[in-house]
Amino acid sequence: MRHLSTKATCNSHGQDSSYFLGWEEYEKNSYDKVQNPKGIIQMGLAENQLSFDLLESWLEKNPEPAGFKRDGKSIFRELALFQDYHGLPAFKKALVEFMAEIRGNRVSFDPNHMVLTAGATSANETLMFCLAEPGEAFLLPTPYYPGFDRDLKWRTGVEIVPIHCTSSNDFQITETALEAAYYEAQQCNLRVKGVLVTNPSNPLGTTLSRSELNLLISFITTKGIHLISDEIYSGTVFSSPGFVSVMEVLKDRNCDKSEVWDRVHIVYSLSKDLGLPGFRVGAIYSNDDMVVAAATKMSSFGLVSSQTQYLLSALLSDKKFTKNYISENQKRLKNRQNMLVMGLKRAGISCLKSNAGLFCWVNMRHLLRSDTFEAEMELWKKIVYDVRLNISPGSSCHCTEPGWFRVCFANMTEETLDLAIKRLKDFVVEHTANGHSKSNNSSKKSKRKLLPKWVLRLRDRDHEPDER
Ligand SMILES: Cc1ncc(COP(=O)(O)O)c(C=O)c1O
Repeated sequence: MRHLSTKATCNSHGQDSSYFLGWEEYEKNSYDKVQNPKGIIQMGLAENQLSFDLLESWLEKNPEPAGFKRDGKSIFRELALFQDYHGLPAFKKALVEFMAEIRGNRVSFDPNHMVLTAGATSANETLMFCLAEPGEAFLLPTPYYPGFDRDLKWRTGVEIVPIHCTSSNDFQITETALEAAYYEAQQCNLRVKGVLVTNPSNPLGTTLSRSELNLLISFITTKGIHLISDEIYSGTVFSSPGFVSVMEVLKDRNCDKSEVWDRVHIVYSLSKDLGLPGFRVGAIYSNDDMVVAAATKMSSFGLVSSQTQYLLSALLSDKKFTKNYISENQKRLKNRQNMLVMGLKRAGISCLKSNAGLFCWVNMRHLLRSDTFEAEMELWKKIVYDVRLNISPGSSCHCTEPGWFRVCFANMTEETLDLAIKRLKDFVVEHTANGHSKSNNSSKKSKRKLLPKWVLRLRDRDHEPDER
């Protein structure tokens, strides 16, 4: 007898991806400077631990909000009973102002158009529920955040169709790639409901250019579909070109008076910019009142606790604090990114030029035995088990070119990052000396390159319905 539902056991969750398998290996043998100095260093987790001291010092100076107090009086009972799923007005005001500050106050946001969710995970899933029927599709540029397979597809039954971006133009989105994805969806009998982008990108660590944003807006206007912009990393942009939100481009094009205005939605969260993934604070921002109303109804499944809202409304209303935090955090991220890029360069490894995020998109194609995803897996296993670094292979982000890896730099101390770079450098010397990498013909594109299984699965879905 079957004990679990098909939904609970189907493989669209993506738990078997190497992205999650790497975490499991890390859990079994985690690096600790004293207890386990030969353990695996976690470089597959996009966490921001660089500015905790700033948050801690604010908490020390402002003990009232964390102690359930207002003007010296306990508000414990008020917070314990609060259950309005519209959220605390003071928190929503502080959050929209923080979002505007990150965007240089070039745009403003109305708290009435915001729905609070338990992180961006919940925000993305809620938008899928509100905008698409099971079996309809969203187009996503590759490479993309591996968690999207779970967040967008698993419980909603929505399909993801890849917009194939390649290293030939630094993985930028082109009109040809957008049209090809739209066509591919049609070939698979999937109705396209929208495009979802992450800006800045996870895993690339780059921001979308104005011309890409313009292209996206024109595309969704012509096709009559939605655009979701996941801007969870918007506060991590540490060097030029600066961050441009899709809302700015919409405003510049005077779209606030056109019907496309209602079809653009932003996802945000404090998991990355403030480094608080454990607090579970996210939001949907939509110009469409109907989307806001539907998402608010759904938000009962993933509300943000009242004490978290209360604490963060005090923190984010402190403008002196937020101003200093945003710039200091960006400075620290920039130093870290530089440390990783320079360290890898000394090991003969290059990175995609990035200006944001908590990771680099690293090119190790020259270390592959052949230009295939099998060779990428082989190299990844060596790096996890022998070098003892958990990094994420490009195939787990649905990259179509073998040899790229996402390497995180903000979830550890400088000392640990130094050690990780040293381990990788020693490995490259040995690996190259043993002739394991493909010899100097890395520029030749191999015809043997295989498409990852999931692409084939999507292509074959009409013939093999059980594979879904
Ligand atoms: C692009 C992107 N969206 C959403 C999430 C989920 O974030 P949250 O912790 O807010 O649920 C992540 C987390 O890594 C992410 O990278």
